[in-house]
Amino acid sequence: MSDRRSFQAFHPFARLSRLLDSHPAGHDRPILLSIGEPKNQPPAFVTEEIAAAATKWSSYPPPRGTPQYNGACADWLTRRYGLPRGMIDPQRHVLPLPGSREGLFFAVLSAVQDHQGAAPPVVLMPNPFYHVYAGAAVAMSAEPVFVPATAETGFMPDYGALDPALLDRAVFCFLNSPANPQGAAADRGYLARLVALARRHDFIVAFDECYAEIYDTTPPAGVLEVVAESGGALDHVLAFHSLSKRSSAPGLRCGFAAGDPALIDKLDAALRVGGAGVSLPILAAGTRLWREEAHVEANRDYYRRNFALAERILGNRFGFRKPDGGFFLWLDVGDGEAAALKLWREAGVRVVPGGYMSEPGPDGVNPGARYIRVALVYDAATTEEGLNRIVEVLGDGVPEDGAPGDGTAAGRAAPQTAAAEG
Ligand SMILES: Cc1ncc(COP(=O)(O)O)c(C=O)c1O
Repeated sequence: MSDRRSFQAFHPFARLSRLLDSHPAGHDRPILLSIGEPKNQPPAFVTEEIAAAATKWSSYPPPRGTPQYNGACADWLTRRYGLPRGMIDPQRHVLPLPGSREGLFFAVLSAVQDHQGAAPPVVLMPNPFYHVYAGAAVAMSAEPVFVPATAETGFMPDYGALDPALLDRAVFCFLNSPANPQGAAADRGYLARLVALARRHDFIVAFDECYAEIYDTTPPAGVLEVVAESGGALDHVLAFHSLSKRSSAPGLRCGFAAGDPALIDKLDAALRVGGAGVSLPILAAGTRLWREEAHVEANRDYYRRNFALAERILGNRFGFRKPDGGFFLWLDVGDGEAAALKLWREAGVRVVPGGYMSEPGPDGVNPGARYIRVALVYDAATTEEGLNRIVEVLGDGVPEDGAPGDGTAAGRAAPQTAAAEG
């Protein structure tokens, strides 16, 4: 792993700032396709629900949620994944979270706390990865192991191919499906094999399913439906869900974890020490959002329009494929860093170099280096303009030796202008 003592060193947006902020945007209307933040609005009833619960601001957030909120989450899981009634007990199996990020971070903390071995515990994650996975491992002095999730592996990490001795040292594993940034979704067979592997080698899997509701025609599979098919045992399994993408409400900070009741209790215990909790007015709004589907269908339509534009404008350039889920394009442009710099300087379009979301493997090859990540979160007109500028500037890509570099592998202080994502 490159120098990862400081969180800023591996945060993709800190690295993007280092690359771009000393260069003026090459357009008087910059378009920021770098940040995976929904631009659609959540339904107006969110405000009504929060206002109706206004007397509750004086209460601390209830750590285990409310019967209404947890019940809405359990009912949504049951509908979404066709689970048997009663498989998910709202109080034992569901834990409210202020978005999924905090839960993903604290789940690692609660897992490594009991680690007894002399060697540091191993945390497995896909490569590329959501930066919080690596941040959590590093913060807990665990050893992050980055497992390639590339075109060759169907953009999913092949954990089953790892050395069994390494798998025995693993205490925790992340699986992001649909995946940020590649947009691939694991099928049921993959999910079932990963659950079996986790049980065989006794590690916990966090199934990060926060993009599960953003898809075109086929709802991506979820771990709980796979578990239900094989009898419903939840051991070793935690699924993470969020209203940030489903309801375009990342500012609400509202989601949940569901799964193994012993792991839910441990996560709860850790969050009671360092977590923020979810306040009662937010839980009231969240309850309604998990129960309402019309706004989610409208949201899917919004992204469908953007992906139809991408299909028309990009055609078969840059290995374009419609993602199985989520709202990112993962484009093979040859040299992602050089392309990001060129797009900013010549067209005022900001995208994330894929190599900023991934680590070089033992062979020195960074599996994201050829790519850029493009977030299709804006309205159709802005998206269309952004995509047209990408095609104009990049043509068919940027040769791999065109890399300008960000001036530093990890060292220089990052200007703090980059907006935060999740
Ligand atoms: C892969 C992935 N997981 C989790 C999150 C966290 O989202 P939130 O905390 O808003 O639910 C994000 C946010 O961008 C993400 O991309």
